[in-house]
Amino acid sequence: MAIEKKTIRDVRLHGRRALVRVDFNVPQDKDGNITDDTRIRAHLPTINYLLAHGCKVILMSHLGRPKGKPDMKYSLKPVVALLRELLEQPVYFATDCIGDPAVQSVANMHVGDVLVLENLRFHPGEDADDPVFARELARLGDLYVCDAFGTAHRESASMVGVTSFLPTVAGLLMEQEVAAISGVLEDAKHPFVAILGGAKVSDKIGVIENLLTKVDKLLIGGGMAITFLKAQGFNVGDSLLEADKVELATSLLHEAGGKLVIPVDVVIAAAFSNEANRKTVAADAVPDGWRILDIGPQTVELFRTALVDAQTIVWNGPMGVFEMPNFAAGTQAIATAVAGRTAQGAYSLVGGGDSVAAVEQMGVADQISHISTGGGASLEMLEGKEMPGLMHIQDLHPDPDFSTGVVY
Ligand code: 3PG
Repeated sequence: MAIEKKTIRDVRLHGRRALVRVDFNVPQDKDGNITDDTRIRAHLPTINYLLAHGCKVILMSHLGRPKGKPDMKYSLKPVVALLRELLEQPVYFATDCIGDPAVQSVANMHVGDVLVLENLRFHPGEDADDPVFARELARLGDLYVCDAFGTAHRESASMVGVTSFLPTVAGLLMEQEVAAISGVLEDAKHPFVAILGGAKVSDKIGVIENLLTKVDKLLIGGGMAITFLKAQGFNVGDSLLEADKVELATSLLHEAGGKLVIPVDVVIAAAFSNEANRKTVAADAVPDGWRILDIGPQTVELFRTALVDAQTIVWNGPMGVFEMPNFAAGTQAIATAVAGRTAQGAYSLVGGGDSVAAVEQMGVADQISHISTGGGASLEMLEGKEMPGLMHIQDLHPDPDFSTGVVY
């Protein structure tokens, strides 16, 4: 599905300074080594397109939550070395994202150069969407390219404020992500089946409510299923329960009728540990002192059956405590089932760290139609919320004569 926003394909680029908001918020180990470069790789098509079309490319991002002051633990410097390897060309680094270090570094750039600015969140103006900070950023470019889909739900200076000062277009990652998610929300082929998991029902209430208006079936697993089991009147033992959400779960079950599918059996453990005593029981037979850590094999079968003729599948959140191998079977089985159905022609969209990790671990990631780089952002979009980082990108001109090659 095409997005109704201008992209880098719709504007003159040659010789311009493209100020690109990327999401390089990548996981790192305790020594600062990047442990997953997916988010960096995801921006390569945009960066390469801008380079191929004669831009100077200035990349800006946040990393972690350094609370508005410099903290070298969150420096973007490690990203520079990795980007150099991926792009196979020099990549320069400015030790601050505004002021002299940034202005001088940009002034030294030639067409075809790439510069990474230091972490935007080293300044309080970023999260505060401060217009003065936004204007300082905007000075560095002639054109603003918003490619940070993972940050599209944040109203920060580099996502929103900067758009008041520069012509604003989407990058190719932003375009691809928005097209994929709005495609399933607005134009899904049926049967449309969503699978939601993860720890807390409170994180996903908006998503459940919005998806219930669109899907044919909504399968609930993971920690959030516990609240629904309690709503059915079942004992959940020592499981992590959101007691204040039981009433809501009861009314959702009531309103959704047969659309909401919850576990019929569960894997339980005597303690929250991979080595703990464990067994599989019916969902209404969890004894006191035990806790639910995965969906059971009958539930996997039930979910597989629901997926058998699905034409569109959305999956977000693990089915159990996936990081413990003894409670990973449910999540792994769903990863394989989603990939299998995709191979038979369904469209599948997977988002959220653990579900993405599961399809990768099972070696089926390349069979998924679209894997989102956005965690919170993809959830908020599935909730049907307006995305601040998207709202300010210029709309495509309705006149086809003006929709390409527009000169600002
Ligand atoms: C993310 O990882 O979801 C985005 O980069 C946003 O990060 P934040 O939650 O720290 O704003």
